Amino acid sequence: MKVLIFDNATEAVNHAFSIVREQVVNKPKSVLGLATGGTPIKLYRKMVADFHTSAINYKMVRSINLDEYIGLDYYSIYSYAYYMDYNLFSKLNMDISNTHIQNGKAKDLKKECIRYNKVITDNPIDLQILGLGQNGHIGFNEPGTSFDLETHVVELDESTIEANKKYFGKLVKQPTKAFTMGIKSIMKSKKILLMAYGESKADAVKRMIEEEVTEDLPASILQKHDDCIILLDKEAASKLSKR
Ligand code: PGA
Repeated sequence: MKVLIFDNATEAVNHAFSIVREQVVNKPKSVLGLATGGTPIKLYRKMVADFHTSAINYKMVRSINLDEYIGLDYYSIYSYAYYMDYNLFSKLNMDISNTHIQNGKAKDLKKECIRYNKVITDNPIDLQILGLGQNGHIGFNEPGTSFDLETHVVELDESTIEANKKYFGKLVKQPTKAFTMGIKSIMKSKKILLMAYGESKADAVKRMIEEEVTEDLPASILQKHDDCIILLDKEAASKLSKR
């Protein structure tokens, strides 16, 4: 695990962007594992800005998203399918058939997990982008999730529902279940880039980096990955004992 601490999130995002760009330039058919939420938004904006001012080409890039709410699909502005299209896919020259996300409206949840696992096996992830939950989750792998799981259905933690309330309209019924890529698949990614910004992540960051590897803090498994880079701003790094 390589931990890099920046003065602010903007500098960390610049670094994340340079890693993603290098990946796509070096391997135009890269498979990117993508995340949603507040954390990767600035990275996606930089990718879009760069796309409009450089010769970078996303035509052959494939993408696999971490998670999706059960009950929502592209036709809901609260779905991650919509988020991805709005923030990234529609603004790059990606081929939409190369992008993958679980179908939140799937009737048979088990079959959807099996389908998604095949997508991941058929498209080994070169670079996985991750955010970090305040409770230490990666994807929607909540505390207590087995490290051996592949794609599965989760009951979201109360703390996750609370943390994500800000992304939903006041009158909208917030989903309590989701599909998530499992830790086993995340750990198979060739390279992992986790970003965490702000004080609300400081406790989870400390436990992820400095404490034991435990299913109670899912992100701690990243200590065992061979090529994992953690990008933090000062606030997220504020509880680390060793700088
Ligand atoms: P956030 O969530 O980026 O919205 O803070 C991160 C996560 O839950 O993985």
